[in-house]
Amino acid sequence: MNVLQLRKCLVARPELPEISEIVVRNYVGPGDIPLWSNLLDAAFTAAQPPVRHMDGSEFSRQIQGSHWWSAKRMWFAETNNTSEPVGTVTLGLRQGKTRTSPSIHWLAVHPAWRRVGVARLLMAHLEQSCWDAGFRQVDLETHRGWRAAKKFYQTLGYRNTLRSSTRTKPDASNRSASG
Ligand SMILES: CC(C)(COP(=O)(O)OP(=O)(O)OC[C@H]1O[C@@H](n2cnc3c(N)ncnc32)[C@H](O)[C@@H]1OP(=O)(O)O)[C@@H](O)C(=O)NCCC(=O)NCCS
Repeated sequence: MNVLQLRKCLVARPELPEISEIVVRNYVGPGDIPLWSNLLDAAFTAAQPPVRHMDGSEFSRQIQGSHWWSAKRMWFAETNNTSEPVGTVTLGLRQGKTRTSPSIHWLAVHPAWRRVGVARLLMAHLEQSCWDAGFRQVDLETHRGWRAAKKFYQTLGYRNTLRSSTRTKPDASNRSASG
């Protein structure tokens, strides 16, 4: 079972931690697309199993064009003096027949900025946005082989759901569903 399906139940409105050099903002326009693509390439460069490059046209088609994406649910962490992008995460809201499910996509922190709390900060923004919209649980898929991600999500309180799958990659062969 290589794909891990994780869930966190939110029991209180998450606080936003502070990192002195880092600010978080939402997606503002097409100029963010290459920033996002480069961040993912850098973050997943050593990932096993690997993830494929997603370019601007694919972003526009598969992400921006989808019903579950919104600029206000895509976050970028950047340095506050030079606006260097250091991390990103996206919250998808998928409409089911009976309910809407929030799910985490493309959490990525540049290797040069790891272990200073960037991912924790991005996730606090994402979880706060879920809470404010009335959602009390968040789901994601990740790969068992991505050990840092697994450890990170466990630290934040994400736990296995009973739906763990025998698929080898998150969301078939596409990285678009990777948390
Ligand atoms: C997983 C990832 C997003 C973590 O980003 P990060 O900014 O370094 O994480 P944080 O600094 O916020 O870590 C918060 C806590 O998570 C845990 N954690 C994070 N990375 C860890 C690692 N490599 N090993 C063990 N624990 C880890 C620690 O408890 C950490 O707190 P600490 O540093 O005080 O011990 C980053 O390693 C990354 O981008 N990986 C490649 C892309 C990826 O796998 N994305 C997720 C796809 S599902």
